[in-house]
Amino acid sequence: MSRISANPSWPHPLIAGIALLCATLFSAIVGAADAPGTLRAGTSGDAVCTRCHDANEKKPILSIQRTRHGVASQPGCQACHGSSRGHVLHADDSAPRPPPDFVFSGVNKSTVEVQSRTCLICHSSGKRSHWSGSAHPGNDVTCASCHEVHQPQDKALSKETQREVCFTCHKTQRAQIHYLSSHPIAAGKIACSDCHNPHGSTGPKLLVKNTINETCFNCHAEKRGPFLWEHPPASDDCSNCHVAHGSNIAPLLKVRPPWLCQGCHAGTQHTTPAFSGRNLPVPAGGTAPSQQLLLRACLNCHSAIHGSNHPSGPRFTR
Ligand code: HEC
Ligand code: HEC
Ligand code: HEC
Ligand code: HEC
Ligand code: HEC
Ligand code: HEC
Ligand code: HEC
Ligand code: HEC
Ligand code: HEC
Ligand code: HEC
Repeated sequence: MSRISANPSWPHPLIAGIALLCATLFSAIVGAADAPGTLRAGTSGDAVCTRCHDANEKKPILSIQRTRHGVASQPGCQACHGSSRGHVLHADDSAPRPPPDFVFSGVNKSTVEVQSRTCLICHSSGKRSHWSGSAHPGNDVTCASCHEVHQPQDKALSKETQREVCFTCHKTQRAQIHYLSSHPIAAGKIACSDCHNPHGSTGPKLLVKNTINETCFNCHAEKRGPFLWEHPPASDDCSNCHVAHGSNIAPLLKVRPPWLCQGCHAGTQHTTPAFSGRNLPVPAGGTAPSQQLLLRACLNCHSAIHGSNHPSGPRFTR
């Protein structure tokens, strides 16, 4: 910020209006010929603002010209901040300068609804078609909570950095992705947005698909089946047994087998004992604990736990 308070001779509004018009026309002619990414300070409609908001700002403002919003024919300052006449034409140094029409940070920031609406003028379709009424806007989260449009590197847009943006609010998931077993999120191979659409979706929990299973099948297609013998909890909802973000029980399991299985299968034949891992029951006439309860327990035999296509696999043993 440089030439602001030293501004005694700001011209009459009419002249300013003409100047603004000229600048706009100029940008229409010259701006259109700019190569993408060309710096436009002083040569276009943005000059209305960059006259004061120049390279001396504490926060980088002009760097927006190196983003997709900055290339020729993309929105200028006023497309997002409004024409902001009061702010631009303010001449009375004794009174505070009124803020621009739309402000996205700091004490003067516009309401969440107004902010979102400003961006949605151009971005209401595609991934944002379910924005309205979804979890984020419903909880006072708006576009600028995640996007830094003035930054050439908007963290939300890169797989490597996106999670940092989410973790500013989602501390539980920050912890979960470092559990012993996890999706390779911390390694940057998978991003939150591979499973979630933070802008809103038709599925539960902002999932990219209509159900948890459909979301998982995006990458684990072999678990979709169809199977000759289906295991109902798997075809219903993978989260009956798995936690998507991370778990200390591999692979991403909610509970360690056999307890995992016994949560649903108890009271029939060999599934019954709700044992603790010690003092395993010795079958009548036997000398050692039932091998069916040892080691990987149930999965030693019921290995096709997601479903079986083997004619003799109704018990998922093959
Ligand atoms: C004549 C100088 C001048 C012009 C022209 C100007 N600004 Fe400002 N702007 C300022 C000053 C000074 C501040 C700091 C205001 C304050 O701290 O009270 C400011 C603050 C802002 C802020 C932060 C507001 C806040 O309350 O946090 C935004 C956003 C902004 N200007 C955008 C614009 C845009 C967009 C334009 C062009 C439409 C523009 N400005 C034109 C001088 C100017
Ligand atoms: C695509 C929409 C968009 C455009 C175009 C845009 N801005 Fe912004 N501006 C924002 C948002 C959003 C913020 C909030 C800060 C952030 O997180 O990026 C902001 C913040 C600011 C701030 C306040 C910075 C602070 O201290 O927090 C100023 C000043 C500003 N913009 C000026 C400008 C000027 C000048 C231009 C034109 C060169 C411009 N903006 C173009 C959206 C936009
Ligand atoms: C006047 C129209 C307009 C407005 C208003 C606008 N944008 Fe954009 N935005 C664009 C265009 C055009 C692109 C480039 C899209 C493309 O090439 O597909 C873009 C691109 C983006 C991108 C992707 C950038 C990239 O590198 O891929 C993000 C994120 C974005 N806008 C966020 C915002 C946010 C947040 C706001 C409100 C603060 C906003 N936009 C306001 C027109 C607009
Ligand atoms: C909770 C965080 C979050 C919020 C809030 C958010 N975004 Fe995004 N946005 C992202 C992430 C992450 C990506 C990159 C992954 C993707 O494309 O889904 C993205 C991508 C984009 C893109 C580029 C990809 C595309 O869809 O073309 C645009 C444009 C965009 N957002 C605009 C907006 C606008 C406008 C708003 C407000 C109405 C908004 N975003 C709110 C996180 C967010
Ligand atoms: C500014 C804070 C903030 C940021 C940043 C943020 N969120 Fe959220 N998110 C919330 C709030 C608040 C809620 C609603 C309350 C809750 O469920 O915790 C929410 C809810 C959610 C939900 C659950 C939705 C539901 O229907 O229950 C998901 C999934 C989610 N966010 C994903 C993300 C992802 C992915 C990112 C990063 C791209 C992100 N969030 C960034 C604040 C944030
Ligand atoms: C492999 C897919 C996947 C990835 C990657 C993923 N999630 Fe999720 N997320 C889910 C599923 C499935 C649910 C719903 C089931 C549940 O609550 O565990 C969920 C639920 C959530 C919820 C709501 C939790 C609640 O208790 O309501 C939040 C918040 C969330 N995820 C944030 C994130 C964030 C942040 C990231 C990135 C660090 C992320 N997720 C990455 C699949 C994923
Ligand atoms: C974006 C792609 C993607 C989606 C969507 C996805 N996964 Fe994964 N999943 C992976 C990758 C990559 C691995 C790691 C594979 C490896 O390390 O060989 C993995 C590994 C796993 C593992 C094994 C973990 C381990 O420690 O060996 C389980 C279990 C798993 N995913 C379950 C799920 C569930 C349940 C869902 C749905 C909520 C889901 N995945 C959605 C990509 C995905
Ligand atoms: C009844 C509990 C249960 C359900 C429901 C379940 N899984 Fe699993 N899953 C397991 C167990 C147990 C293992 C470990 C198998 C082993 O150690 O041999 C596993 C392993 C995996 C693995 C890693 C090893 C492999 O087989 O590739 C992936 C990926 C996986 N599950 C994905 C899914 C998906 C996707 C769903 C939903 C369609 C799902 N699971 C539903 C219990 C379940
Ligand atoms: C969320 C509950 C749930 C969990 C957890 C679960 N199952 Fe199942 N399982 C079912 C249901 C429901 C059926 C179908 C029962 C039926 O058709 O009578 C079934 C069927 C079976 C069958 C075939 C039984 C038959 O009568 O045809 C076997 C074997 C089996 N499960 C083993 C396991 C093992 C091993 C685990 C642990 C890895 C496990 N299940 C975890 C709910 C569960
Ligand atoms: C040593 C191999 C083995 C182990 C270990 C094992 N099972 Fe089985 N299970 C079988 C066989 C074989 C059948 C088929 C028996 C039949 O058809 O009569 C079976 C049948 C079942 C059935 C079908 C209904 C029933 O009771 O007959 C269920 C449910 C089941 N097992 C669950 C479990 C659970 C839960 C565990 C872990 C606590 C487990 N099994 C451990 C081999 C095993």
